[in-house]
Amino acid sequence: MPLPPPYRIKVVEPIPFLSPEERAGALDAAGYNPFNLRADQITIDLLSDSGTGATSAAQEAAAAVGDESYAGARSWFRFLDEVADLTGYPHVLPVHQGRAGERILFGTLLDPGQICVSNTHFDTTHANVELSGAEALDLPCAEALDLDSPEPFKGNIDLDALAALLSGPDGGRVGLVLMTITNNGLGAQPVSMANLRAVREMCRSHDVPFFLDAARFAENAWFVREREDGYQDRSPREIAREAFDLADGCVISLKKDGLASIGGCIGLRDDALHARCEALLIATEGFSTYGGLAGHDLERLAVGLREVVDPAYLAARAAATANLARMITEAGVDIIQPAGMHALYLNAGRLLPHLTPAEFPGHSLGCQLYLDGGIRCAELGSLYLGTMDDQHRLVTAAPFELVRLAIPRRVYTQEHFEYVAETLAGIAKDPERIKGYRIVSTPPILRHFKVRLAPL
Ligand code: F0G
Repeated sequence: MPLPPPYRIKVVEPIPFLSPEERAGALDAAGYNPFNLRADQITIDLLSDSGTGATSAAQEAAAAVGDESYAGARSWFRFLDEVADLTGYPHVLPVHQGRAGERILFGTLLDPGQICVSNTHFDTTHANVELSGAEALDLPCAEALDLDSPEPFKGNIDLDALAALLSGPDGGRVGLVLMTITNNGLGAQPVSMANLRAVREMCRSHDVPFFLDAARFAENAWFVREREDGYQDRSPREIAREAFDLADGCVISLKKDGLASIGGCIGLRDDALHARCEALLIATEGFSTYGGLAGHDLERLAVGLREVVDPAYLAARAAATANLARMITEAGVDIIQPAGMHALYLNAGRLLPHLTPAEFPGHSLGCQLYLDGGIRCAELGSLYLGTMDDQHRLVTAAPFELVRLAIPRRVYTQEHFEYVAETLAGIAKDPERIKGYRIVSTPPILRHFKVRLAPL
Protein backbone atom coordinates (compact mmCIF):
# COMPACT_ATOMS: atom_id res chain seq x y z
CA MET A 1 0.00 0.00 0.00
CA PRO A 2 1.42 3.44 -0.85
CA LEU A 3 2.12 5.79 2.05
CA PRO A 4 -0.41 8.61 2.61
CA PRO A 5 0.46 12.20 1.63
CA PRO A 6 3.39 13.59 3.66
CA TYR A 7 1.35 16.51 5.07
CA ARG A 8 -1.84 17.19 7.01
CA ILE A 9 -4.41 19.97 6.59
CA LYS A 10 -3.83 23.15 8.58
CA VAL A 11 -6.14 25.69 6.93
CA VAL A 12 -9.43 24.83 5.22
CA GLU A 13 -11.74 26.66 2.83
CA PRO A 14 -15.49 25.92 2.68
CA ILE A 15 -16.91 24.61 -0.58
CA PRO A 16 -20.50 25.22 -1.68
CA PHE A 17 -23.18 22.61 -2.38
CA LEU A 18 -25.89 24.00 -4.67
CA SER A 19 -29.23 22.31 -5.36
CA PRO A 20 -29.70 20.70 -8.81
CA GLU A 21 -32.03 23.59 -9.75
CA GLU A 22 -29.44 26.19 -8.70
CA ARG A 23 -26.77 24.41 -10.74
CA ALA A 24 -29.01 24.27 -13.81
CA GLY A 25 -29.68 28.02 -13.48
CA ALA A 26 -25.99 28.80 -12.98
CA LEU A 27 -24.92 26.83 -16.05
CA ASP A 28 -27.62 28.44 -18.18
CA ALA A 29 -26.51 31.92 -17.06
CA ALA A 30 -22.89 30.92 -17.87
CA GLY A 31 -23.83 30.23 -21.50
CA TYR A 32 -23.10 26.53 -20.82
CA ASN A 33 -19.41 27.37 -20.61
CA PRO A 34 -17.86 26.27 -17.29
CA PHE A 35 -15.19 29.00 -17.64
CA ASN A 36 -18.02 31.50 -17.01
CA LEU A 37 -19.17 29.91 -13.73
CA ARG A 38 -18.41 31.63 -10.44
CA ALA A 39 -16.22 29.71 -8.01
CA ASP A 40 -18.98 29.92 -5.38
CA GLN A 41 -21.20 27.86 -7.69
CA ILE A 42 -18.75 24.94 -7.80
CA THR A 43 -18.41 22.02 -5.40
CA ILE A 44 -15.29 20.31 -6.82
CA ASP A 45 -13.19 22.37 -9.21
CA LEU A 46 -11.20 20.21 -11.63
CA LEU A 47 -10.95 22.88 -14.33
CA SER A 48 -7.21 23.35 -13.89
CA ASP A 49 -4.23 22.30 -11.81
CA SER A 50 -2.72 25.73 -12.50
CA GLY A 51 -2.38 28.08 -9.54
CA THR A 52 -5.02 26.07 -7.71
CA GLY A 53 -2.81 24.12 -5.29
CA ALA A 54 -2.50 24.55 -1.53
CA THR A 55 0.61 26.22 -0.16
CA SER A 56 2.52 24.89 2.83
CA ALA A 57 3.13 26.47 6.23
CA ALA A 58 6.77 26.88 5.22
CA GLN A 59 5.77 28.75 2.05
CA GLU A 60 3.49 31.11 3.97
CA ALA A 61 6.20 31.73 6.57
CA ALA A 62 8.62 32.61 3.76
CA ALA A 63 6.00 34.87 2.14
CA ALA A 64 5.74 36.87 5.37
CA VAL A 65 9.35 38.02 4.93
CA GLY A 66 8.90 38.78 1.23
CA ASP A 67 11.01 41.76 0.19
CA GLU A 68 9.06 44.11 -2.09
CA SER A 69 12.00 46.28 -3.20
CA TYR A 70 11.57 47.40 -6.78
CA ALA A 71 15.02 46.16 -7.81
CA GLY A 72 17.38 43.61 -6.32
CA ALA A 73 14.96 42.32 -3.66
CA ARG A 74 16.20 39.62 -1.25
CA SER A 75 13.26 37.48 -2.39
CA TRP A 76 14.48 37.66 -5.98
CA PHE A 77 17.87 36.28 -5.04
CA ARG A 78 16.28 33.45 -3.05
CA PHE A 79 14.16 32.58 -6.09
CA LEU A 80 17.09 32.95 -8.50
CA ASP A 81 19.34 30.69 -6.41
CA GLU A 82 16.64 28.03 -6.28
CA VAL A 83 15.85 28.10 -10.02
CA ALA A 84 19.52 28.26 -11.02
CA ASP A 85 20.36 25.34 -8.74
CA LEU A 86 17.42 23.29 -10.04
CA THR A 87 17.86 23.99 -13.76
CA GLY A 88 21.53 24.92 -14.16
CA TYR A 89 20.67 27.75 -16.58
CA PRO A 90 22.99 30.76 -16.21
CA HIS A 91 20.21 33.23 -17.03
CA VAL A 92 16.80 33.26 -15.33
CA LEU A 93 14.04 35.78 -16.07
CA PRO A 94 10.96 35.90 -13.84
CA VAL A 95 7.51 36.31 -15.41
CA HIS A 96 4.05 36.48 -13.90
CA GLN A 97 2.96 33.21 -15.54
CA GLY A 98 3.96 30.76 -18.25
CA ARG A 99 2.32 32.45 -21.21
CA ALA A 100 4.14 35.73 -20.51
CA GLY A 101 7.39 33.79 -20.81
CA GLU A 102 6.14 32.21 -24.06
CA ARG A 103 5.30 35.61 -25.52
CA ILE A 104 8.71 37.01 -24.63
CA LEU A 105 10.67 33.95 -25.80
CA PHE A 106 8.77 33.35 -29.05
CA GLY A 107 8.59 37.08 -29.82
CA THR A 108 12.38 37.16 -29.57
CA LEU A 109 13.41 33.79 -30.97
CA LEU A 110 10.89 33.08 -33.74
CA ASP A 111 10.55 34.92 -37.04
CA PRO A 112 7.37 35.03 -39.12
CA GLY A 113 7.24 32.03 -41.46
CA GLN A 114 9.28 29.81 -39.15
CA ILE A 115 7.99 26.58 -37.61
CA CYS A 116 7.92 25.70 -33.91
CA VAL A 117 7.75 21.92 -33.49
CA SER A 118 6.49 20.22 -30.34
CA ASN A 119 5.32 16.87 -29.01
CA THR A 120 2.12 18.92 -28.42
CA HIS A 121 1.79 22.65 -27.84
CA PHE A 122 -0.43 23.67 -24.94
CA ASP A 123 -3.25 25.98 -26.11
CA THR A 124 -1.72 29.30 -25.02
CA THR A 125 1.67 28.11 -26.26
CA HIS A 126 0.16 27.39 -29.66
CA ALA A 127 -1.49 30.82 -29.65
CA ASN A 128 1.74 32.61 -28.70
CA VAL A 129 3.71 30.82 -31.44
CA GLU A 130 1.12 31.88 -33.99
CA LEU A 131 0.94 35.44 -32.62
CA SER A 132 4.70 35.67 -33.31
CA GLY A 133 3.92 34.90 -36.98
CA ALA A 134 5.39 31.38 -36.84
CA GLU A 135 3.55 28.09 -37.33
CA ALA A 136 2.96 25.66 -34.44
CA LEU A 137 3.37 22.03 -35.52
CA ASP A 138 2.61 19.04 -33.25
CA LEU A 139 4.37 15.73 -33.88
CA PRO A 140 3.15 13.40 -31.11
CA CYS A 141 4.39 9.80 -31.19
CA ALA A 142 2.08 7.20 -32.72
CA GLU A 143 1.34 5.49 -29.36
CA ALA A 144 -0.16 8.74 -28.08
CA LEU A 145 -2.98 8.36 -30.59
CA ASP A 146 -4.01 4.98 -29.18
CA LEU A 147 -5.85 6.14 -26.06
CA ASP A 148 -6.00 2.65 -24.54
CA SER A 149 -2.36 1.72 -25.06
CA PRO A 150 -0.48 1.30 -21.74
CA GLU A 151 2.85 2.46 -23.25
CA PRO A 152 4.88 4.26 -20.56
CA PHE A 153 6.00 7.36 -22.52
CA LYS A 154 3.13 8.43 -24.71
CA GLY A 155 4.23 12.06 -24.29
CA ASN A 156 7.20 11.48 -26.61
CA ILE A 157 7.66 13.29 -29.91
CA ASP A 158 7.66 11.21 -33.09
CA LEU A 159 11.42 11.09 -33.73
CA ASP A 160 11.10 9.79 -37.30
CA ALA A 161 8.72 12.60 -38.22
CA LEU A 162 11.01 15.16 -36.58
CA ALA A 163 14.06 13.79 -38.44
CA ALA A 164 12.15 13.86 -41.74
CA LEU A 165 11.02 17.44 -41.14
CA LEU A 166 14.50 18.67 -40.19
CA SER A 167 16.19 17.12 -43.21
CA GLY A 168 13.30 17.78 -45.63
CA PRO A 169 12.46 20.89 -47.68
CA ASP A 170 10.94 22.71 -44.66
CA GLY A 171 13.88 21.89 -42.38
CA GLY A 172 15.38 25.35 -42.77
CA ARG A 173 12.13 26.89 -41.49
CA VAL A 174 12.27 25.13 -38.12
CA GLY A 175 13.12 27.87 -35.63
CA LEU A 176 12.53 25.97 -32.39
CA VAL A 177 11.79 22.50 -31.01
CA LEU A 178 9.77 22.75 -27.80
CA MET A 179 9.18 19.63 -25.71
CA THR A 180 6.26 19.86 -23.29
CA ILE A 181 6.92 17.85 -20.12
CA THR A 182 4.51 16.30 -19.26
CA ASN A 183 2.39 16.41 -22.39
CA ASN A 184 -0.67 18.26 -21.12
CA GLY A 185 -2.33 18.48 -24.54
CA LEU A 186 -2.32 14.70 -24.99
CA GLY A 187 -3.23 12.92 -21.80
CA ALA A 188 -0.69 14.25 -19.25
CA GLN A 189 1.70 11.62 -20.58
CA PRO A 190 5.40 11.79 -19.70
CA VAL A 191 8.36 12.16 -22.04
CA SER A 192 11.28 9.74 -21.64
CA MET A 193 14.84 10.90 -21.16
CA ALA A 194 15.78 8.80 -24.19
CA ASN A 195 13.34 10.83 -26.30
CA LEU A 196 14.71 14.13 -24.95
CA ARG A 197 18.29 12.98 -25.66
CA ALA A 198 17.40 12.04 -29.23
CA VAL A 199 15.71 15.41 -29.78
CA ARG A 200 18.78 17.16 -28.41
CA GLU A 201 21.06 15.32 -30.86
CA MET A 202 18.83 16.15 -33.84
CA CYS A 203 18.58 19.80 -32.84
CA ARG A 204 22.36 19.98 -32.42
CA SER A 205 23.10 18.52 -35.81
CA HIS A 206 20.61 20.88 -37.51
CA ASP A 207 21.56 23.87 -35.38
CA VAL A 208 18.00 24.39 -34.12
CA PRO A 209 17.33 25.67 -30.56
CA PHE A 210 15.82 23.06 -28.24
CA PHE A 211 13.68 24.27 -25.33
CA LEU A 212 11.52 22.65 -22.67
CA ASP A 213 8.02 23.75 -21.73
CA ALA A 214 8.66 22.42 -18.26
CA ALA A 215 5.42 23.26 -16.42
CA ARG A 216 5.33 19.77 -14.88
CA PHE A 217 9.05 18.98 -14.72
CA ALA A 218 8.82 17.24 -11.33
CA GLU A 219 5.87 15.05 -12.34
CA ASN A 220 7.70 14.07 -15.54
CA ALA A 221 10.79 13.21 -13.48
CA TRP A 222 8.69 11.00 -11.21
CA PHE A 223 7.36 9.01 -14.15
CA VAL A 224 10.90 8.65 -15.55
CA ARG A 225 12.04 7.27 -12.21
CA GLU A 226 9.12 4.83 -12.11
CA ARG A 227 9.19 3.72 -15.74
CA GLU A 228 12.52 4.27 -17.52
CA ASP A 229 15.41 1.83 -17.12
CA GLY A 230 18.40 3.23 -15.28
CA TYR A 231 16.59 5.94 -13.29
CA GLN A 232 15.26 3.98 -10.30
CA ASP A 233 18.04 5.13 -7.99
CA ARG A 234 18.03 8.76 -9.08
CA SER A 235 16.13 11.47 -7.21
CA PRO A 236 13.34 13.40 -9.02
CA ARG A 237 15.45 16.54 -8.67
CA GLU A 238 18.46 14.87 -10.34
CA ILE A 239 16.27 13.57 -13.15
CA ALA A 240 14.70 17.00 -13.68
CA ARG A 241 18.19 18.50 -13.79
CA GLU A 242 19.26 16.01 -16.44
CA ALA A 243 16.28 17.09 -18.58
CA PHE A 244 17.15 20.78 -18.16
CA ASP A 245 20.80 19.99 -18.99
CA LEU A 246 19.77 18.56 -22.36
CA ALA A 247 18.00 21.73 -23.51
CA ASP A 248 19.18 25.21 -24.51
CA GLY A 249 16.60 26.75 -22.22
CA CYS A 250 13.08 26.52 -20.89
CA VAL A 251 9.84 28.31 -20.25
CA ILE A 252 8.09 27.26 -17.06
CA SER A 253 4.66 28.07 -15.75
CA LEU A 254 5.40 27.87 -12.04
CA LYS A 255 1.68 27.77 -11.28
CA LYS A 256 1.95 23.99 -11.48
CA ASP A 257 5.14 22.44 -10.08
CA GLY A 258 6.14 25.72 -8.43
CA LEU A 259 3.36 24.89 -5.94
CA ALA A 260 2.18 28.51 -5.88
CA SER A 261 -0.75 30.46 -7.24
CA ILE A 262 1.20 32.62 -9.66
CA GLY A 263 4.59 32.76 -11.33
CA GLY A 264 6.77 31.59 -14.14
CA CYS A 265 10.25 31.93 -15.54
CA ILE A 266 12.44 31.65 -18.60
CA GLY A 267 15.78 29.84 -18.33
CA LEU A 268 18.46 30.55 -20.95
CA ARG A 269 22.06 29.72 -21.78
CA ASP A 270 22.64 32.16 -24.64
CA ASP A 271 23.85 35.62 -23.55
CA ALA A 272 22.56 37.52 -26.58
CA LEU A 273 19.12 35.87 -26.43
CA HIS A 274 18.98 36.67 -22.72
CA ALA A 275 19.75 40.35 -23.36
CA ARG A 276 16.97 40.59 -25.97
CA CYS A 277 14.42 38.77 -23.80
CA GLU A 278 15.36 40.89 -20.79
CA ALA A 279 14.69 44.11 -22.71
CA LEU A 280 11.22 42.87 -23.67
CA LEU A 281 10.63 41.66 -20.11
CA ILE A 282 11.40 45.07 -18.63
CA ALA A 283 9.20 46.81 -21.19
CA THR A 284 6.19 44.52 -20.71
CA GLU A 285 6.35 42.50 -17.45
CA GLY A 286 8.48 44.40 -14.97
CA PHE A 287 12.10 44.84 -13.95
CA SER A 288 14.26 41.76 -14.35
CA THR A 289 14.37 41.04 -10.61
CA TYR A 290 10.59 40.67 -10.23
CA GLY A 291 9.01 40.28 -13.71
CA GLY A 292 5.43 40.95 -12.63
CA LEU A 293 5.69 39.01 -9.37
CA ALA A 294 5.55 40.28 -5.81
CA GLY A 295 8.39 39.48 -3.42
CA HIS A 296 6.05 37.22 -1.45
CA ASP A 297 5.26 35.25 -4.63
CA LEU A 298 8.98 34.73 -5.28
CA GLU A 299 9.40 33.47 -1.71
CA ARG A 300 6.55 30.95 -2.00
CA LEU A 301 8.03 29.70 -5.27
CA ALA A 302 11.55 29.32 -3.86
CA VAL A 303 10.16 27.03 -1.14
CA GLY A 304 7.66 25.31 -3.46
CA LEU A 305 10.38 24.31 -5.92
CA ARG A 306 12.05 22.35 -3.09
CA GLU A 307 8.84 20.76 -1.83
CA VAL A 308 7.70 19.61 -5.26
CA VAL A 309 10.64 17.27 -5.83
CA ASP A 310 10.12 15.47 -2.50
CA PRO A 311 9.71 11.80 -3.50
CA ALA A 312 7.09 11.27 -0.76
CA TYR A 313 4.97 14.11 -2.16
CA LEU A 314 5.26 12.90 -5.76
CA ALA A 315 4.55 9.27 -4.80
CA ALA A 316 1.39 10.29 -2.92
CA ARG A 317 0.21 12.51 -5.77
CA ALA A 318 0.76 9.76 -8.34
CA ALA A 319 -1.08 7.28 -6.08
CA ALA A 320 -4.04 9.63 -5.54
CA THR A 321 -4.53 10.21 -9.27
CA ALA A 322 -4.08 6.50 -10.04
CA ASN A 323 -6.68 5.69 -7.40
CA LEU A 324 -9.18 8.13 -8.93
CA ALA A 325 -8.42 6.56 -12.32
CA ARG A 326 -9.20 3.10 -10.94
CA MET A 327 -12.51 4.25 -9.41
CA ILE A 328 -13.54 5.96 -12.65
CA THR A 329 -12.76 2.97 -14.88
CA GLU A 330 -14.60 0.69 -12.44
CA ALA A 331 -17.56 3.05 -12.80
CA GLY A 332 -17.57 2.26 -16.52
CA VAL A 333 -15.88 5.37 -17.92
CA ASP A 334 -12.70 4.89 -19.97
CA ILE A 335 -9.77 7.26 -19.56
CA ILE A 336 -6.58 7.79 -21.54
CA GLN A 337 -4.20 5.07 -20.39
CA PRO A 338 -1.99 5.04 -18.44
CA ALA A 339 -3.25 7.53 -15.82
CA GLY A 340 -1.30 10.79 -15.75
CA MET A 341 -0.49 12.71 -12.59
CA HIS A 342 -1.91 16.20 -12.96
CA ALA A 343 -5.04 15.14 -14.83
CA LEU A 344 -7.21 12.32 -16.11
CA TYR A 345 -8.79 12.47 -19.56
CA LEU A 346 -12.23 10.87 -19.90
CA ASN A 347 -13.09 9.25 -23.22
CA ALA A 348 -16.42 11.02 -23.74
CA GLY A 349 -16.66 9.92 -27.38
CA ARG A 350 -16.80 6.30 -26.25
CA LEU A 351 -19.20 6.94 -23.36
CA LEU A 352 -21.65 8.96 -25.46
CA PRO A 353 -21.66 7.30 -28.92
CA HIS A 354 -25.19 8.60 -29.55
CA LEU A 355 -23.75 12.14 -29.87
CA THR A 356 -21.91 13.17 -33.03
CA PRO A 357 -18.74 15.33 -32.74
CA ALA A 358 -20.87 18.29 -33.93
CA GLU A 359 -22.98 17.83 -30.78
CA PHE A 360 -19.81 18.07 -28.63
CA PRO A 361 -19.94 14.89 -26.50
CA GLY A 362 -16.97 16.00 -24.36
CA HIS A 363 -18.65 19.27 -23.58
CA SER A 364 -21.91 17.45 -22.83
CA LEU A 365 -20.17 15.15 -20.36
CA GLY A 366 -18.45 18.12 -18.71
CA CYS A 367 -21.76 19.98 -18.37
CA GLN A 368 -23.43 16.87 -16.95
CA LEU A 369 -20.73 16.52 -14.29
CA TYR A 370 -21.60 20.04 -13.23
CA LEU A 371 -25.36 19.52 -13.39
CA ASP A 372 -25.23 16.25 -11.42
CA GLY A 373 -22.42 16.98 -8.97
CA GLY A 374 -21.28 20.60 -9.15
CA ILE A 375 -17.98 19.33 -10.62
CA ARG A 376 -16.21 21.65 -13.06
CA CYS A 377 -13.84 20.37 -15.72
CA ALA A 378 -12.73 21.19 -19.28
CA GLU A 379 -13.57 19.73 -22.68
CA LEU A 380 -10.68 18.70 -24.93
CA GLY A 381 -12.53 17.67 -28.05
CA SER A 382 -14.18 19.18 -31.08
CA LEU A 383 -15.32 22.27 -29.21
CA TYR A 384 -11.71 23.07 -28.34
CA LEU A 385 -9.84 21.64 -31.34
CA GLY A 386 -12.36 21.24 -34.18
CA THR A 387 -12.49 23.65 -37.10
CA MET A 388 -15.73 25.56 -37.69
CA ASP A 389 -17.30 27.56 -40.50
CA ASP A 390 -18.50 31.12 -39.87
CA GLN A 391 -21.94 29.81 -38.90
CA HIS A 392 -20.20 27.93 -36.00
CA ARG A 393 -20.84 24.60 -37.69
CA LEU A 394 -18.22 21.92 -37.18
CA VAL A 395 -16.18 21.31 -40.34
CA THR A 396 -13.39 19.05 -39.03
CA ALA A 397 -13.82 17.11 -35.81
CA ALA A 398 -11.03 16.70 -33.25
CA PRO A 399 -9.34 13.27 -33.27
CA PHE A 400 -10.87 12.48 -29.86
CA GLU A 401 -13.72 13.73 -27.70
CA LEU A 402 -12.15 14.07 -24.25
CA VAL A 403 -12.84 15.72 -20.91
CA ARG A 404 -9.95 16.68 -18.65
CA LEU A 405 -10.26 16.29 -14.90
CA ALA A 406 -7.31 18.34 -13.64
CA ILE A 407 -6.18 17.60 -10.09
CA PRO A 408 -5.12 20.60 -7.98
CA ARG A 409 -2.07 19.87 -5.82
CA ARG A 410 -2.57 19.11 -2.09
CA VAL A 411 -6.23 20.24 -2.23
CA TYR A 412 -8.77 17.41 -2.41
CA THR A 413 -9.04 14.33 -0.21
CA GLN A 414 -9.92 10.74 -1.01
CA GLU A 415 -13.60 11.49 -0.14
CA HIS A 416 -13.71 14.26 -2.75
CA PHE A 417 -12.35 11.86 -5.36
CA GLU A 418 -14.91 9.21 -4.35
CA TYR A 419 -17.65 11.79 -4.85
CA VAL A 420 -16.33 12.55 -8.36
CA ALA A 421 -16.22 8.84 -9.24
CA GLU A 422 -19.74 8.30 -7.89
CA THR A 423 -21.09 11.22 -9.92
CA LEU A 424 -19.49 9.73 -13.03
CA ALA A 425 -20.89 6.30 -12.19
CA GLY A 426 -24.37 7.85 -12.11
CA ILE A 427 -23.83 9.28 -15.60
CA ALA A 428 -22.38 6.02 -16.94
CA LYS A 429 -25.52 4.11 -15.81
CA ASP A 430 -27.73 6.00 -18.24
CA PRO A 431 -25.60 7.91 -20.76
CA GLU A 432 -28.36 8.09 -23.38
CA ARG A 433 -30.17 10.78 -21.36
CA ILE A 434 -27.32 13.21 -22.08
CA LYS A 435 -28.07 15.72 -24.82
CA GLY A 436 -25.66 17.56 -27.10
CA TYR A 437 -24.97 21.29 -27.44
CA ARG A 438 -24.78 23.87 -30.20
CA ILE A 439 -22.63 27.00 -30.34
CA VAL A 440 -24.34 30.37 -29.95
CA SER A 441 -21.30 32.65 -30.22
CA THR A 442 -17.49 32.30 -30.32
CA PRO A 443 -14.48 34.62 -29.94
CA PRO A 444 -11.92 34.87 -32.80
CA ILE A 445 -9.13 32.87 -31.06
CA LEU A 446 -8.89 30.46 -28.11
CA ARG A 447 -12.53 29.58 -28.66
CA HIS A 448 -13.12 27.37 -25.63
CA PHE A 449 -12.45 30.14 -23.09
CA LYS A 450 -15.27 32.46 -24.16
CA VAL A 451 -17.64 30.39 -26.35
CA ARG A 452 -21.36 30.39 -25.41
CA LEU A 453 -23.58 27.40 -26.10
CA ALA A 454 -27.12 26.12 -25.75
CA PRO A 455 -28.44 22.59 -25.18
CA LEU A 456 -29.97 20.84 -28.20
N1 F0G B 1 2.49 25.17 -20.88
C1 F0G B 1 1.77 24.16 -20.38
C2 F0G B 1 2.17 22.75 -20.67
C3 F0G B 1 0.62 24.43 -19.62
O1 F0G B 1 -0.10 23.41 -19.16
C4 F0G B 1 0.26 25.78 -19.37
C5 F0G B 1 -0.93 26.10 -18.61
C6 F0G B 1 1.07 26.78 -19.90
C7 F0G B 1 2.18 26.45 -20.64
C8 F0G B 1 0.76 28.24 -19.70
O2 F0G B 1 1.05 28.61 -18.41
O3 F0G B 1 -1.15 29.28 -17.44
O4 F0G B 1 0.99 29.94 -16.37
O5 F0G B 1 0.28 30.98 -18.49
N2 F0G B 1 -1.79 25.27 -18.30
C9 F0G B 1 -2.97 25.46 -17.49
C10 F0G B 1 -3.83 24.23 -17.58
C11 F0G B 1 -3.71 26.72 -17.71
O6 F0G B 1 -4.97 24.27 -17.05
O7 F0G B 1 -3.42 23.22 -18.14
P1 F0G B 1 0.24 29.77 -17.64
